[in-house]
Amino acid sequence: MTYKVALSFEDGVTRFIKCGPNETVADASYKARINIPLDCRDGACGTCKSLCESGTYDGGDYIDEALTDDEAEAGYALPCQMTPKSDLVLQIPTTSDMAKTGASTHRGTITEIRRYSSTTIGFSMAVEDRAALSYLPGQYVNIQVPGTDVERSYSFSNGPDVEEISFLVKITPGGAMSTYLSDRAGVGDTLALTGPMGSFFLREPKRPALLLGGGTGLAPLLAMLETMTTTAPGQPVHLILGVTTDEDLVELDKLRHYADTIEGFTWDYCVADPESEAPNKGYVTALIEPTHVNDGDVDVYLCGPPPMVEAVRGFLKSEGITPANFYSEKFALAAAPATGDLVGASA
Ligand code: FES
Repeated sequence: MTYKVALSFEDGVTRFIKCGPNETVADASYKARINIPLDCRDGACGTCKSLCESGTYDGGDYIDEALTDDEAEAGYALPCQMTPKSDLVLQIPTTSDMAKTGASTHRGTITEIRRYSSTTIGFSMAVEDRAALSYLPGQYVNIQVPGTDVERSYSFSNGPDVEEISFLVKITPGGAMSTYLSDRAGVGDTLALTGPMGSFFLREPKRPALLLGGGTGLAPLLAMLETMTTTAPGQPVHLILGVTTDEDLVELDKLRHYADTIEGFTWDYCVADPESEAPNKGYVTALIEPTHVNDGDVDVYLCGPPPMVEAVRGFLKSEGITPANFYSEKFALAAAPATGDLVGASA
């Protein structure tokens, strides 16, 4: 039996390796030709020290100079000593380039295009060698826009265990991917993907979670929820979706479905447009209640445009709430006006 170990690098690249229960993560990385930082390989120097964000393991033998009890308690481990007892997610303290690796590339075919509204399109793809594309719920890939050398970043909108992968795209007039999807895309088109990328992914649930999505920032949250249907969070999870206009309201049926199937999951939404027909008009901060933030013992996951991220940070500060964890993925407009798609960047 082998476990899957996700090595998450500082530049956002994630590589997945297989590691046996009696094999150290360092040995498994070496076999996969990934040079994670190592020096003594003996639990003495601390060079390989990495934060384990998810999973259980045997930490092995090491001295206090390499890893203190406080560090071990905080989740740090030594890959040269640690052996997995489950799948793991490790933050590797270097870039993928330094580790002589990089994001992997994949090809896939469009199987469905969903034109939800004038502002939002979704599409699904069948990936060649699907087993080779592992990702964590919440992560994104770079997709090359067919017929151009332009790449855009999109979060997976479904969990990593499904056969076909899906995405949500906010339509930006004149944007490269927006123009392609609106005017030229068809079922059967082939697209090239690079990834997975990003540090915005679902961690092991240890406390209640508050998921906040702005517009198509809902996509990575949907991927997290899909994962929660098979690995019950065991903790309350509340999601608030905020959009600009009623046209931006998509995938609400999925949220209703998850509310029925995930124990402890609740959700709400609001629309900023004062002309909206939604019951709640305004911004997500108006819908955050004390129970959702649990006196700060909460993991906040937020994917949306920079003003939304700042507004939520400001709101929590003004309420005197410091969340146990605040994970965010900001969306920023691409610099060139002709390529104004939304691109994701981890924050
Ligand atoms: Fe020295 Fe791991 S390489 S402690």
